[in-house]
Amino acid sequence: MTTPPAPFPMGRPRRLRQSDWMRRMVAQTQLSPSDLIWPIFICEGENVEEPVASMPGVNRLSIDRAIVAANEAANVEIPVIALFPNTPENLKTSDCEEAYNPDNLVNRATRAIKAAVPDIGIMLDVALDPYNADGHDGLVRDGEVMNDETLMILERQALSHAEAGADILGPSDMMDGRIGMIRRALEQNDFPNVSIMAYSAKYASAFYGPFRDAVGATGALKGDKKTYQMDPANSDEALRMALRDLDEGADMVMVKPGMPYLDLCSRVSRETGAPTFAYQVSGEYAMIEAAAANGWIDRDSAIAESLLGFKRAGCTGILTYYAMEIAQKLSDPMSI
Ligand code: PBG
Repeated sequence: MTTPPAPFPMGRPRRLRQSDWMRRMVAQTQLSPSDLIWPIFICEGENVEEPVASMPGVNRLSIDRAIVAANEAANVEIPVIALFPNTPENLKTSDCEEAYNPDNLVNRATRAIKAAVPDIGIMLDVALDPYNADGHDGLVRDGEVMNDETLMILERQALSHAEAGADILGPSDMMDGRIGMIRRALEQNDFPNVSIMAYSAKYASAFYGPFRDAVGATGALKGDKKTYQMDPANSDEALRMALRDLDEGADMVMVKPGMPYLDLCSRVSRETGAPTFAYQVSGEYAMIEAAAANGWIDRDSAIAESLLGFKRAGCTGILTYYAMEIAQKLSDPMSI
């Protein structure tokens, strides 16, 4: 066998790819259960597990079932679960009073889970869409989503969630000034330790469709959310939003959706230096599931690759409907 003529490569990058142990040894990023936040949909009733049609494999859980799920999540070291309510239709109004009802679905769920599973963090969204007869994240008056009027309701909602025991608030409403308003309310009401993970770079996206089914907001929503969620064409704005939210008192920031916005995961984490999370949203989940169900992609490796992509882009962690499945696999090395 003769050596190929010069210029012969001095480096052979394939040396480091030749075996599984070598690839693991040089891997730059890793996924761990501690990177994963698990969103769970809560519904009324007892012993209920209700499939979400557009998210195969995801169920809405009644509070008793959510306690079991939270316990399983804590056992595989998922640090945080995020609860989203499927509010009964008759409780949705144009004034969104149910958002700050101390006994609304997520507040009851939070108290019950905190009592039964003290070792897992609970994150609650602050936004009006699950409670709004108009389907929007803010109050609608004469067809317009009102900013400052909405802030007054969000403040009450945030305080009701803090009182229920939420550890992290996730303002996802995209009203101007909400982070500062919520932070001030928390300080003034003796909740200095409640964290805020701001949905800072939240885009007006087609990928939220299945989520709106899951929380039952699809029917009510007229039009789109483009007057408050960000334009997918913009990049610098995401950075401005993240810096402003940190300035107003957010502890962590989020980019949402995930996969179409990896550039922003990278920019925001690098340029703010703050813990940066990505939300792999319902539509991303639905795409992977649909393609896998058709035999068009290999489901398990597509999921792992999608999650690793967020870590590679610089994310601190990921909100994903796959959290439980992946954390279970990671904590049982024999299964992967
Ligand atoms: C509510 C909210 C949405 C999501 C999280 N919080 C939907 C929206 O803004 O319309 C989407 C999550 C997902 O699609 O998985 N403000």
